Amino acid sequence: MRKKVTVVGAGNVGATTAQRLFERGYMDVVLVDVVEDMPQGKALDMQESGPVLGIDATVTGANDYGPSAGSDLVVITAGIARKPGMSRDDLLLTNMKIVGEVTQQVVAQSPSATLIVVSNPLDAMVQHSYAVSKFPKNRVIGMAGVLDTARFRTFLAQELKVSVKDVQAYVLGGHGDQMVPLTQYTTVGGVSISELLSAEALERIIKRTQAGGGEIVALLKTGSAFYAPSAAIAEMVDAILLDQQRLLPCAALLEGEYGLSGIYMGVPVVLGANGVERIVELKLTDAERTMLNASADGVRELVDIMAKA
Ligand code: NAI
Ligand code: 2OP
Repeated sequence: MRKKVTVVGAGNVGATTAQRLFERGYMDVVLVDVVEDMPQGKALDMQESGPVLGIDATVTGANDYGPSAGSDLVVITAGIARKPGMSRDDLLLTNMKIVGEVTQQVVAQSPSATLIVVSNPLDAMVQHSYAVSKFPKNRVIGMAGVLDTARFRTFLAQELKVSVKDVQAYVLGGHGDQMVPLTQYTTVGGVSISELLSAEALERIIKRTQAGGGEIVALLKTGSAFYAPSAAIAEMVDAILLDQQRLLPCAALLEGEYGLSGIYMGVPVVLGANGVERIVELKLTDAERTMLNASADGVRELVDIMAKA
């Protein structure tokens, strides 16, 4: 029997994610949105690509959660996206309400699902979804680190004129401008990045990575990134549904790891059939630890605002 995945929010990220997942062929996809007929239209359009692609999986659009019942995994992309001049944090209270309502409906229909939360501000939204769902922490995960790391790897590969396949890196911390690229674990074909790139060039690329979401918003003008985000989500879905035991940077609930407790933040985790199988603690430099703590303070500020809302 094929796996079943629901994607909530059929906007740019949700629809692109549904397409990527449908095209993998090993899962049936349900696409849910509040806008009448829109998820049905996008789903039918995707379904009609099946014969061309040789894919027999189904993709169903809906405005309610009935068709999503019994999903193995649910991706939550519902909410508003930022426009030029907005930060991810400006989305907090609007998306908190949406993500809370969506989580309740998802949990009622799919009590055994693993949740991948994508809506921004990411770390606060995944924490809220975790609290509302009452799921075990390993089954509520946030997507941001794979995207941030993909941006870092893209810029490094372009600068060094090498294949992206050979660039390994980790970007940790909250999904904001204070994210933490770990240069000591950044390698190209096993060679440390410090051997290949000047400190100035590396700093320029780190700054571009940290502002990577904003760079796309400034170009698109009407919304935010979705091609790279959907690719990142699909990589996490594969890791979980195919029990790949991948080591990927994801937002996970920290309970003492990295000296932080009670907040979700981007850290390296092993992703497999149980969701977060374990958090991997890397040795950080003093500077990296200071940056990670500053990033955590930013996440905590948002969590405090949510608690008072
Ligand atoms: P979008 O505006 O294209 O789509 C959002 C969709 O959510 C809309 O179709 C809307 O009708 C739907 N929606 C709103 N309320 C809903 C509800 N209660 N139930 C079901 N659907 C609902 O936005 P886009 O570009 O798809 O982004 C979605 C979210 O993902 C945003 O918050 C954005 O900031 C975030 N994002 C996060 C990334 C990350 O790395 N974590 C990367 C890219 C986007
Ligand atoms: C990004 O980084 C919008 O958070 C999203 O592109």
